[in-house]
Amino acid sequence: MNLKEMLNLADRIVFEKTGQHLDDLQEAVLKATLQHDTYKHVAKDFDCSESRVRNAASELWQLLSEELGEDVNKKNFRSAMERWKVSNVSNFAKDVVGIGIFNLCGEGRHPPNIPNSHPPNQETSNPQQTKTLHQDLSEMPELGAFYDRTHELQTLTTWILQQNSRLITLTGISGIGKTSLAVQLVQQIKDEFEYAVWYTLDEFPTIDKFQSNLIQLFSNSEKQDSSPTNQKRLPLIKYLQNHRCLIVLDDVHNLFCSGESAGKYKPECEEYRSLFKQIEKLSHQSCLMLIGWEQPREVTQVKNQNTPIRTLQLKGLDIAAGREILRDYGLAESDNSETLIHRYQGNPLWLKSVATLIQELGGGVTELLPNDTILLPEDLKDVLHQQFDRLSELEKQVISLLAKESQPIDRAKLLENDTIPVSDLANALQSLSRRCLIEQQANFYAIAPVLRQYAIAHAV
Ligand SMILES: Nc1ncnc2c1ncn2[C@@H]1O[C@H](COP(=O)(O)OP(=O)(O)OP(=O)(O)O)[C@@H](O)[C@H]1O
Ligand SMILES: [Mg+2]
Repeated sequence: MNLKEMLNLADRIVFEKTGQHLDDLQEAVLKATLQHDTYKHVAKDFDCSESRVRNAASELWQLLSEELGEDVNKKNFRSAMERWKVSNVSNFAKDVVGIGIFNLCGEGRHPPNIPNSHPPNQETSNPQQTKTLHQDLSEMPELGAFYDRTHELQTLTTWILQQNSRLITLTGISGIGKTSLAVQLVQQIKDEFEYAVWYTLDEFPTIDKFQSNLIQLFSNSEKQDSSPTNQKRLPLIKYLQNHRCLIVLDDVHNLFCSGESAGKYKPECEEYRSLFKQIEKLSHQSCLMLIGWEQPREVTQVKNQNTPIRTLQLKGLDIAAGREILRDYGLAESDNSETLIHRYQGNPLWLKSVATLIQELGGGVTELLPNDTILLPEDLKDVLHQQFDRLSELEKQVISLLAKESQPIDRAKLLENDTIPVSDLANALQSLSRRCLIEQQANFYAIAPVLRQYAIAHAV
C-alpha cells in the first residue's frame, strides 16, 4: 500500500471504531511514521509540544492495536497494516469494487504524490485494482527521513503513469538521493502495476540471474493465479508485454566498464543492451527504471516527448530540504547553514557526512569552515574515490585541467591546452557531464568545489 492508501485505511479503521475521522494531528503522526520522520518535526509543524504529539500518537497506537488485534507502534505500523489488509482481503476487495470507500488508484492518472487530508468517501473507478499484485521488493532499501523532491516525484509519476514511458534512467552523482527518490516513488505508485520488482545489481550482474529471477516470479504467480499445469516459460519480454510491470534496477553502473568513458557495457553484460532495446522498441505497458552513476551510452538525453524513453539527472536538494537534514545534527540554525548547503551542493550524503564531522568536533560551522574551506571527511573521500576510480585517463586529465581553476572555464580556453586533442576533449566533456562530475553553462565548464578539492588533494 502506498502512503495514501495506508492513510485511507487507517482513517476507515478509526472511523469505524470512533465514528470520527482522523484529525490533522493524528494524520500527521501517521505520515511521519510512514516517512520515517520524527515527532519533533510534527510538533514543530503544529507549533505544539513534542509530548502532545507523543500522547496523540500513543492513543492512536492503542486504538489501532485494539482493532488490528496486535500491538501496533511506530516501528511496526506499516507491516501491521499490510498484515491486516491481507487477512481482511475479501472485505477489502469488496469495498474497493462495491462500496468504493477507498480511492486505491490515487487520483486516477494524476500523480498520487501528497495525500489529501481526508481522503475517504471518494469514488473509486479503476477495476484493474482488483487484480492480484505481485511484488518482489525484498531488495528495495528502507527509506530514512526523506525531504522534498516533490517536483521530481511528480515528473517521474507523470512519465510512468500518464505518458507510459517504457524506459527511464535516473542518474546522478553518488549520494545525491537517487535510490531514496526511487524508493519513495515505488511506494507511491507500485499498486498501479500487476508486478512491482526492485533489483540491485552487484558487481557481477549476469543477465541470466536477472532474467531467471524475474521469470521465476512471473511463472510462480501465474501458476497461483490460474493453476494451469506445466506452464511454458516465455522470454522475459513476453511477460512484460502480457502484464503491466514496474521494474527498478539499481546500481546499473555495475553493467559498465571502469576506466572507460561512461556507459560502455562490460563484455559479459552486452546482453542487457538487447533487453533494454526490446523494452524501448516493442509495444507494452511495463516500465523499466535504471538507476545509477552512468546510463547506457545509447540512451541519450531525450528531448523528444514522443519517444518512450525519459532521462532524469538528479541535482541536489534545495536550501529548505538541506536545512531539514542539518537539523538532525543540530546545525540548521547556525549562521552558515546556507553556505554549508551551497558548498556541498545540496547533496544529502555529503551534507550528512560533513555534518557528522562538525557535530563530532563539537559544532561551530563558522569556525570549521572559514572562507572557502571544504572539509572532506574520510567516508566522503571513500565515496568520491569510487567515482573517480571509474574515470578514463582522458577524463582524469580534463578533471585536473578544470580543478586548476576556481572559476568556470571557457571552452575556448580549454581547447587551447596542448595535451588533449579536440575530439578527445569533446568526448571527455560529454562523458563527465553524463556522470554529473562537471557542470556546463553555455560554453563554460566548472567542477563542484567538493570535487575540485578532492581532485587537487588526490592528484586525479
Ligand atoms: N530527499 C532526501 N531527504 C533526506 N535524506 C535524503 C534524501 N535523499 C537522500 N537522502 C539521504 O542521503 C543519503 C544518500 O542517498 P541515496 O542512497 O538515495 O543516494 P544515491 O544517489 O542512491 O547514492 P549512490 O549513487 O551511492 O547509490 C542517504 O543517507 C539518504 O537517506
Ligand atoms: Mg543508490
